[in-house]
Amino acid sequence: MNRIALPSLDGPPGDRLEIVSAWNPETPYQLWRPQILVPATFRPAAAPRTFVVVNQKGGAGKTTTAVELAAAWAAAGYRVRVIDADHQEAALSVWLLPQYPNEGPRHSLRSVFFDECSLAEATYPTLFEGIDIVPSGVDLARVEYERPIGAEQGLAAALADEAKAGTPAYDVTVIDAAPSLGLVTVAALSASDEALVPVKVGGLDMKGMASLHKTIRSVQRKTNPKLRVGSVLLTAWDKSDFARQLASKVSEDYPEAAVIPIRRSVRASEAPLAEQPVRLYAPKSTASGDYDQAARVILPGRAAA
Ligand SMILES: Nc1ncnc2c1ncn2[C@@H]1O[C@H](COP(=O)(O)OP(=O)(O)O)[C@@H](O)[C@H]1O
Ligand SMILES: [Mg+2]
Repeated sequence: MNRIALPSLDGPPGDRLEIVSAWNPETPYQLWRPQILVPATFRPAAAPRTFVVVNQKGGAGKTTTAVELAAAWAAAGYRVRVIDADHQEAALSVWLLPQYPNEGPRHSLRSVFFDECSLAEATYPTLFEGIDIVPSGVDLARVEYERPIGAEQGLAAALADEAKAGTPAYDVTVIDAAPSLGLVTVAALSASDEALVPVKVGGLDMKGMASLHKTIRSVQRKTNPKLRVGSVLLTAWDKSDFARQLASKVSEDYPEAAVIPIRRSVRASEAPLAEQPVRLYAPKSTASGDYDQAARVILPGRAAA
C-alpha cells in the first residue's frame, strides 16, 4: 500500500502564534493577538506518551484536535496510533479510514474491551504515513451497558500487555474520547499519561468544565495517579473579550497547563469530508499552522528534545 506522507510545514503559514509565559491583562483586546500561554510550571511530554483528547461536550473540537496533533507528530517522524473511543459519532474512523486487509476479521476497540483480540490486532494502517488507527463503530456502546470485566482498566491493561511484550510499536497514542463521561471515557482517562482538553470558545459551558474537572480528579485518585491535564486548546478561536476571559479562567483552573488558541478556519470543517487531515488538505490554513505549533509545545520533536 502506498501511504501518503504528511507534509512538514516549512516556513510560517501566515502569522504564527507568539509563545508567552503570562498574559498581559492590560492589553486592550482589540490589540491582543492570540498567544500560546506556556506557564513556568508547564512540562512538555516525551515519547512514548498516551494522550486522551477529552471534553464531554460534543462539538468541542476533540476529533479535529486528535487528527491534527497525530498528523503533526507523524510529520515530525513519530510513529502514531489514534484510537477512536467515540461510538456516538465514530467520526475519527470515517475521517482517517482504516485500511482493512481483504480477508480476516475486522476488529475494533470493542473487540479489545471484550478480550476478543489484542490492541495490536485491532490496529490498522491509515492512508497516511506514520498514523495507524484502532477504529470504532456504534457497537462500542455495548461496553457501556454490558460492562465487560475490568472495563474501566480495559484499555490500560491492553496497553500494558503491549509494553510487556516488548518495545511498544508506537511513540505516541492519541485517544479521541466520546462526548460523555461514561465507562469508555473513564477507561481512556485511566489509560493515559496526559489529558488534552479542547474547548470551543462559543460553546463554553462552565458546569460541563466543572464536571470534567471532577472526573479527572477521581480518575487521578482512584485508577491513574499519573494522569495530568497537559494543555487546553481553545478551538475555533475568534478574537473577542469573551475568548480572553475564557482563557484566563482556564489557566486558573489548570495552572500547569499550556493554553493554546486554534483559530477558526473553514478549512478545518471541510477536511473531514475530504478524508484528509487539515494539514494535508489545507497546509496553509491557520488551523494547520496553529495545530503544528500546538504539537511542538505539547510534545517537542526529537531534534528539539
Ligand atoms: N479551528 C476550527 N475552525 C473551524 N471549525 C472547526 C475548528 N475545529 C473544529 N471545527 C469544526 O467544529 C465541529 C466540531 O469539531 P469536532 O472536532 O468534531 O468536535 P468533537 O469531536 O468534540 O465533537 C466540526 O464541524 C469541525 O469541523
Ligand atoms: Mg468527535
